[in-house]
Amino acid sequence: MNIIKVKDYEEMSQKACSLLLDVVENERKPVLGLATGSTPEGLYRNLIEKYEQHEVTFEDTTTFNLDEYVGLAKDDPNSYRYFMNEKLFKHINIQDENTHVPSGVAEDPKQECKDYEQLIQEADRIDIQILGLGLNGHIGFNEPGTSFSSRTHVVELDESTRNANARFFDSIDDVPTQAITMGIETIMESKSIILLVSGANKAEPLARLVHGEVSEDFPASILQTHGNVTIIADEAARTKI
Ligand code: GLP
Repeated sequence: MNIIKVKDYEEMSQKACSLLLDVVENERKPVLGLATGSTPEGLYRNLIEKYEQHEVTFEDTTTFNLDEYVGLAKDDPNSYRYFMNEKLFKHINIQDENTHVPSGVAEDPKQECKDYEQLIQEADRIDIQILGLGLNGHIGFNEPGTSFSSRTHVVELDESTRNANARFFDSIDDVPTQAITMGIETIMESKSIILLVSGANKAEPLARLVHGEVSEDFPASILQTHGNVTIIADEAARTKI
């Protein structure tokens, strides 16, 4: 794994932006894997800025997001579809039909997972996948114990994950208990992966990801076995590696 050492959140976001733009500029039909959470917000701000400065076009770009809460519709401010529309999609010239986020309100969530997986397979490959790091080592919403051979599936969220994400909701009771997430094998098939890590609370999980054993107990550890992973980590996150 290649580790790019940056000073702070802003530098991490700028670096991630330039790596993503390399792909968008060089692929004829780029396919991006995107993430939500606080970590990639700065990356999205940088992408919008580049678009506004006419440095890039997204008209031939396709995106697949990692995950979505079960039970939240696209107009729910806490849904990941809403997050993506607000933080990125509505500010750039990407075509609506080329942006993909699993539906949280599909009548049959299992079928939704199959359909989503199918769409990714039809796109042939994800050129570059952006990941954040959960405090318990989750990637997407693949919680500890998830099989490394999982494809897109419905997960029960850990109490710790619901607590970590409760800051976005009125109360912990409003945080959904389930989500749809790309599977670990789905993520691992991406041609390249960029993991963004910022802040002191990620120092412990980052150390375990880099130095710990590869184990389903710590999903992010699988990244050690991928041939093209770049970790962009700021100073605060690097104190234990
Ligand atoms: C969330 C998301 C993940 C994200 C992680 C870290 O639960 N499902 O995709 O990477 O937790 O979030 P944050 O970037 O806010 O720390």
